[in-house]
Amino acid sequence: MDAPIDVAGEEFVETDRAFVGGDCGVGVGVEGKKSYLWVGPRPRVLIMDPELMKTVMTKHNTYKKNFKVTNHIVQLIVTGLLGLEGKIWSKSRTTLNPVFQLEKLKKMIPAFQVSCDEILSEWKNLAFTKDDESCVLDVFPYLESLTSKVVSRTLFATDYSKDKNLYVILKEMAYLANQTTRMADLPGAKYLPIETNRRAKQIMSEVRKRLTMLIKERAKEISAGQTVEDNFFHVLLNSELADAHGIKNMTDLFGQVKLFYFAGYESTANLLVWTMILLGIHQDWQEHARQEAFQVFGDHKPDYEGLSQLKVIPMILNEVLRLYPPVVELSRLVEEETKLGEYTIPADTLIMLPIVILHRDPEYWGEDANEFKPDRFADGVLKATNGRPAFFPFGWGPRICIGQNYSLLEAKLVFSNILRTFSFELSPTYTHAPYVVFTVQPQHGAPLILRKLK
Ligand code: HEM
Repeated sequence: MDAPIDVAGEEFVETDRAFVGGDCGVGVGVEGKKSYLWVGPRPRVLIMDPELMKTVMTKHNTYKKNFKVTNHIVQLIVTGLLGLEGKIWSKSRTTLNPVFQLEKLKKMIPAFQVSCDEILSEWKNLAFTKDDESCVLDVFPYLESLTSKVVSRTLFATDYSKDKNLYVILKEMAYLANQTTRMADLPGAKYLPIETNRRAKQIMSEVRKRLTMLIKERAKEISAGQTVEDNFFHVLLNSELADAHGIKNMTDLFGQVKLFYFAGYESTANLLVWTMILLGIHQDWQEHARQEAFQVFGDHKPDYEGLSQLKVIPMILNEVLRLYPPVVELSRLVEEETKLGEYTIPADTLIMLPIVILHRDPEYWGEDANEFKPDRFADGVLKATNGRPAFFPFGWGPRICIGQNYSLLEAKLVFSNILRTFSFELSPTYTHAPYVVFTVQPQHGAPLILRKLK
C-alpha cells in the first residue's frame, strides 16, 4: 500500500494494531511512537509528542472535531458544544463557561452532598443487614446513579426519578455506538435494517420525548416570569442567548441538553469507580486519604474551603486520571494539507492523540509509569513530569473540558464522604477488564467489600 504520509525524513510505521490490556492497568500498545493506521479509507496518524499534541488541541480551527466522519450512532450522542465548530462553538462556549465558574460551582455543593448522602445511605442499609456491618457490592451502578443525580439536580433542576430511564438509555446508546464503530465508513450504514439501527432509533425517540417535555416545562416557567435560577438549563433557554448557542430550532436545543446529560454523568462515574478500585487495592493510600478527610472535616459535611485544602485526595484523583483517563484518546480531522511540526499531514487525515499512552510513557513518567504512585503529584502536575506537559485527562487549549472543575469538586466531595463512612477492598470476584465504551470503564463492574467504619 502506498503511504500518503510525507514523513519528512522520519520513519512512520504502518500498523493495524492498537490494543488495551495489561496487568492491573490499561497498557496500550502501538507499533512505535510514530505510526499510522488505516480504518476504512482514511489514514489515522498517531501523534505522541506532547508539544505537538498541545498544538493540535490548541489550533482548533485547523484541527477540527471529527464527528462528521464518525459512526452515525456516535453522532447522535456527541451533539451540542462537543460537536460544534468555529464561531458558533466559540459563542456557545463563551455563554456556557459562566455556568461552570467557581462561584456557581460552590452553590452546587449542597446538591453534590445530598446525592452522595442518598447513595451512602443505601450502602449503609445494605451493610447493616450483616453482623459485621459489611457487604459485597458492585459499586459501579451506584456511582453512576450518584453522578446522574448530581447532573439532574445541578444542571437541570429536575427530579432524578423522572430522569432515571434517560440515563439508562443513553448508556445503552453508547454501547450501540461501540458495537458499530467499524461501520463508520460504510456508505448508508445508518439505513441498514439491522437491530442496532432499529434500537438506536427507538432510543432517540424516547430521549426526544423526555427532553421535549422537560424543555417545555422550563420554558413555561421562564415565560411565566417565575424566578429562574441562573443554572445551565436557564442559560440555554433564555431566548436572547439562544442564538449565541447556535440554537436555531428545537433540534439544536435538544442536542445541547442531551450532550450535557450524557457528558455530565458518564466520565465522572468512571473517575469515581476507578478511584474506588485502585484504593481497594492500595490500602495504604486509602488510609492516608481517610486520615486527611477526618483531619479536614472531622464529623462535618464537606464545604468548599475544606475541599480546597485537600492535598492527598487530589493527588490520588490525578493518579487515577493518569492511569485510567476516562477519555483514552482524542482525535481531530485535518481538512487541508497541513504542516504539523516537521510533518506534512495530507488532507482528510485523522490525527489521533492517544492520551492513555502518553500518560503511561516511561519517557515522561519514569520506569514506574504503570504503577499507582499518587505521590508523584505531591508537588503539582508539572513537577510530576519534570516540567514536560504530559497530562491531558481533560484535553487542552480552548476546547478543554468545560466540566473539569465541576467533576473534580464532585469527586473530592464524594471521597471525603465515602472514606469517612466505609473502608473497602476488592472482592475476590473482581475481574480486571478496562473496556472502552466512549470512556474507559470496568467491563465486569467493581465488586468491592464495603465495611462500615466503627
Ligand atoms: C472525569 C470527568 C471528565 C473527563 C475526564 C472529561 C474529559 C473531557 C475531554 C478529554 C474533553 C476534550 C475532548 C476533545 O478535546 O475532543 C472534554 C470535553 C467536554 N466535556 Fe468533559 N470530561 C469530564 C467531565 C465532564 C463533565 C462533568 C461535563 C459536563 C458537566 C463535561 C462536558 C464536556 C463538554 C461539553 C466538552 C466539550 C467542550 C468543548 O468542545 O468546548 N465533561 N471532556
